[in-house]
Amino acid sequence: MQVYFAPLEGITGYVFRNAYAKYYGGVDKYFTPFISPHTKKLMDTREKRDILPENNQGLYIVPQVLTNKAEDLIDICKQLKEDYGYEEINLNLGCPSKTVTTKGKGSGFLEYPDQMEEFFDRFFKVADVKLSIKTRIGYWDVEEAERLFHLYERFPFEEIIIHPRLGCEMYKGTPHYEVFERYLERTKHSLCYNGDINSLEALQNLDSRWEKCDKFMLGRGLIARPGMLSNQEDRETFQKFHDEILEGYDAYMCGDRNTLFKMKELWSWWAVMFPGQEKTLKKIKKTNDLREYRLLIKDLS
Ligand SMILES: Cc1cc2nc3c(=O)[nH]c(=O)nc-3n(C[C@H](O)[C@H](O)[C@H](O)COP(=O)(O)O)c2cc1C
Repeated sequence: MQVYFAPLEGITGYVFRNAYAKYYGGVDKYFTPFISPHTKKLMDTREKRDILPENNQGLYIVPQVLTNKAEDLIDICKQLKEDYGYEEINLNLGCPSKTVTTKGKGSGFLEYPDQMEEFFDRFFKVADVKLSIKTRIGYWDVEEAERLFHLYERFPFEEIIIHPRLGCEMYKGTPHYEVFERYLERTKHSLCYNGDINSLEALQNLDSRWEKCDKFMLGRGLIARPGMLSNQEDRETFQKFHDEILEGYDAYMCGDRNTLFKMKELWSWWAVMFPGQEKTLKKIKKTNDLREYRLLIKDLS
């Protein structure tokens, strides 16, 4: 079985990835949060820093791109290959956020299968990198899944990562496992399943349920319980992991407030690991002082 770390914008940047790999590991591929090509320059400073090979040593990184313009994808793939050495790129067809979908990108692109077809025709005519996609199964209705299936079968994707929800469902309800299964039974592609794998047991159950699928991508579950895959859920390892992230942010962020903001974002996921310690967790959420923050973390047991 292969395990992939899902991209989570604002969370799984290079600081997080490196700390995770150092203290936990067991992940075959790390997907970067999406890079959104801009009109003037393809990547901004933050995006470049995230994919720089020297910031990702020893990790298998797949940069992810969010666009609905074939030319932008072609240009950014060229740059990612020539300037940074990446041979495998992922296209985001899953983001359900309104700011993205209203521009016809992410899962919003799925509403326009004709344009998607044209987009991939143009891309694959000139492509010299491996392209994978991370997709939902439609935007409004599960009926859309069939059309998308046939569309995807036409192109030589490296692999297809499927989060079997609709764009309009955001993260609500249960994934449409049956739609994933229908893809799995018939496709010529190599599929990776993504969605709601929140424990090692859940991962093992899906692995034994689907003989034809041996790739799984984990996101929120692995953020909330980083030791879940390796059964390494002790306090000391978590503290070292935490400190590595804190020092990593502190090294490049301007000012304590920004570092604290990033750490607090993580605590909205980590709080579940510390039941019954709501008082300290509340203080962590409130503090604006990095010294006090460090002391509060030590209070958690
Ligand atoms: C805060 C947040 C940010 C995300 N950012 C991205 C992103 O940049 N690119 C992407 O393809 N998916 C993104 N996702 C979706 C996840 O990669 C993943 O598909 C989703 O969370 C379902 O998997 P999970 O249940 O294992 O978390 C994001 C999800 C969340 C909650």
